[in-house]
Amino acid sequence: MTPTATRNQGRVDALLARMTLREKIGQMTQPEKNSATPDDVRAHALGSVISGGGGNPEPNTPEAWRAMVLGFREAARESRLGIPLLYGVDAVHGHNNVVGATVFPHNVGLGAIGDPDLVRRVARATAREVAATGVRWTFAPAVSIPVDVRWGRTYEGYGQDPELVGRLAAAYVEGLRGVDWASPDALLPSVKHFLADGAARHGTSTRWDRAAVKSLSDDPTLANAHLAADFLEVLDRGAWTIDQGDVDVDERTMREVFLAPYRAALAAGALNVMASYGSWHGLRMHEHRHLLTDVLKGELSFEGFVVSDWAAIDQLDPDYEACVERSVNAGIDMVMVPFDWRRFMDALEAAVERGAVPLARIDDAVRRILVAKERLGLFDGADEPELEPPLDVVGHPDHRRIAHEAARRSPVLLKNRGEALPLPPTLPALLVAGAAADDVGLQCGGWTVSWMGAAGPITPGTTLLQGLRRWLPDTELMVEPDGRGSARAPAGLVVVAEEPYAEGMGDRHDLDLPAVDVSLIERVRARVDTLVLVVYSGRPVVLGAAAQLADAIVAAWLPGSEGAAVAEPLVGASGFEATLRTRWPIRSADLPLHPFGAEPHAGARPLFEIGQGLRTAPWSDATTPA
Ligand code: BGC
Ligand code: BGC
Repeated sequence: MTPTATRNQGRVDALLARMTLREKIGQMTQPEKNSATPDDVRAHALGSVISGGGGNPEPNTPEAWRAMVLGFREAARESRLGIPLLYGVDAVHGHNNVVGATVFPHNVGLGAIGDPDLVRRVARATAREVAATGVRWTFAPAVSIPVDVRWGRTYEGYGQDPELVGRLAAAYVEGLRGVDWASPDALLPSVKHFLADGAARHGTSTRWDRAAVKSLSDDPTLANAHLAADFLEVLDRGAWTIDQGDVDVDERTMREVFLAPYRAALAAGALNVMASYGSWHGLRMHEHRHLLTDVLKGELSFEGFVVSDWAAIDQLDPDYEACVERSVNAGIDMVMVPFDWRRFMDALEAAVERGAVPLARIDDAVRRILVAKERLGLFDGADEPELEPPLDVVGHPDHRRIAHEAARRSPVLLKNRGEALPLPPTLPALLVAGAAADDVGLQCGGWTVSWMGAAGPITPGTTLLQGLRRWLPDTELMVEPDGRGSARAPAGLVVVAEEPYAEGMGDRHDLDLPAVDVSLIERVRARVDTLVLVVYSGRPVVLGAAAQLADAIVAAWLPGSEGAAVAEPLVGASGFEATLRTRWPIRSADLPLHPFGAEPHAGARPLFEIGQGLRTAPWSDATTPA
């Protein structure tokens, strides 16, 4: 051990020796900001507070975020021992809860590019924006490997190749760190969701009891979902069939595929891991002592702390005391209790007093949390507010340039019959159809401003249509959101998008293009010589007849706030370079198309295979038009 490590360890131990049981439990408790006040943090010495998806202050401005977070942090400083608070947010593609922050492509798009240097820069910019609002912890990166792409969290992962996922996750962790973990703009990563969140089988999710709950408002978490569609209709389409479900892969696959990226991300210095809602052969990860304690903390020598997922321990048992006891004993160190955190504190205290949870387990958990705080420099003044990045870094042009680069490079060219792309600058007219061509919310997807995201101008950004206007100044753009005009054009561009979703709300029974999109494509096909289809989606979608109807097909994923950049490869201002990291199905009935192992449907042929992605050369080293 280095002398510094020894000294710091001594400081953590000295602090631990002064803490009461109740103060230790306070460090292990993480309420949501809407359920706890700064006074609660002071009185109960709470160790952490979270803003859930959409857990924003009013108004949702960087200034209000900073004031809110500093309010909680100052209260922690005024608690008896003054242990600094860790505030956590889901900055999963930029500081995405904050209106005006830079929104980067979701990980599915970054995976398609596969450039660790870019991922590192994305993470660095994200860290700067998050730290500017007083926050030092993000629940990212997800190292999810989606097996069944009907899973609503497919876009949170980089793809199906464990080696690539590990490499990009490590780069992301390095980017969150920057020069040093203790610098005021470094963020604590949370590598998630441990383990094999992406391997849940369709039909095994038990999150939602349809018989017991009739509407969203019956469930305090789902009440946050603010759906555009009717909830029962979304359930009929397959919501909550996969997410949080059961994994039945064998131990070898578990290690070689799903554990591998954790090794890479932890080696890069991540001191936090989030447990998965799911289960393995029926045993929930939140009570999986073998995986959390023997494998993660033992075999992998993980020195950080494990945080539970949102209210996840509540699912372990009808008896809440049993939930608390089993999760903490299994190795959960900090518990995300969004709502009734007092009940959690009381239950854990009672469990220790009756000997059901050993004090040594509590001490170990608290030590791990304090070590992470120590590593972030929180005991050494790294959280002096004046040292933090200025608020103008939120949405800063330097960061938008990185997001622009990522959005430009992430589209995958799946098909290009007759070299339909790139569109020539001499094109007299282009029919641009589909509302998604000009909609920042649709191109950002879930986890943007609100948990589910939403269509519309939800945050500042640019769109594909703006990019086309910029790059094709001499082309007449015939803009028809519904494609119901009648004039012909030499070329047409149809942009379709999945409606935004997050987590299990985005699980589906099938991934067929909705009928409205198919008929839009058919209508435009009849009016143009060359048809280009751009798909904004968090995962492959089943193209059906559109696979033949379109001359060129571009999977543009969820590019984020800088959507104008997507125009660049389309017009040849840049080349296509990205490749597919998940298998793309021909038919929904073939799903899941497992990328490995002798699993169901392993024999089905995909429409596009992993590694596909056509390349194009730019027209010229085109200069930016004025
Ligand atoms: C998600 C996590 C997220 C947490 C906090 C949960 O619903 O599963 O990925 O980090 O909420 O917002
Ligand atoms: C700094 C810039 C930096 C930007 C983004 C600003 O506060 O002045 O130099 O590029 O933050 O991090």
